Amino acid sequence: MRVVVFASGRGTNFAALSDAQRAGKSRIELCALLSDKADARALHVARDAGVAAIALDPKKYTSRAAFDRALFDAAAEFRPELIVLAGFMRVIDPDVVAAWRGRIINIHPSLLPKYPGLHTHQRALDAGDAMHGASVHFVTPELDGGPAISQVAIGVKANDDARTLASRLLLREHRLLAATVDLIARKRIALTDNGVTFDGNLLHHPLRLADDDRLQEI
Ligand code: GAR
Repeated sequence: MRVVVFASGRGTNFAALSDAQRAGKSRIELCALLSDKADARALHVARDAGVAAIALDPKKYTSRAAFDRALFDAAAEFRPELIVLAGFMRVIDPDVVAAWRGRIINIHPSLLPKYPGLHTHQRALDAGDAMHGASVHFVTPELDGGPAISQVAIGVKANDDARTLASRLLLREHRLLAATVDLIARKRIALTDNGVTFDGNLLHHPLRLADDDRLQEI
């Protein structure tokens, strides 16, 4: 399955996909990494992995929609079957997203529908949550609101701060994203009018990443 990744920052989730591809653990072909930040470390990570890396500057476009159209046009040149938002920190124009329905996913650092948006780790700590986690979901025009595919949960420790919680979760995010993208590549996950299906059956809860890094129904 041909995959294009959008990223604004470090690119560790991209690296996890690249490692899975290289290890032969995933039926994906990473075709390009696109960024809205010319200095994103993710661009270097992609180039080091031999993947095309392109930055587009939002300031050079007259509107958000014009930038998003240019970004998705650039992605389309790589003929992706799936676009993965991996730390892509922009809200995308609803009409542009709608055209990719079922073919674009995002990884978000919370147990959605809890904590859409920013500062998810601090919000989980402030709420006194015992568990925190990450979600992979299909992207729809609603911010972090599209149908969830999979989640991973971790326990919050008494001495956690946002930084320790984020870094512990990030290691599990990498596994979650790689496992989820692989299931999509194997055509085991799809978005239908009724919701997300797994092996043809409607999912009533997101799949959960188990300790052995497999995604399971709950
Ligand atoms: C990840 O923690 C991802 O869940 C988060 O950004 C980080 C990117 O890390 N995404 C969002 O917050 C999206 N709203 P990375 O650049 O090292 O992959």
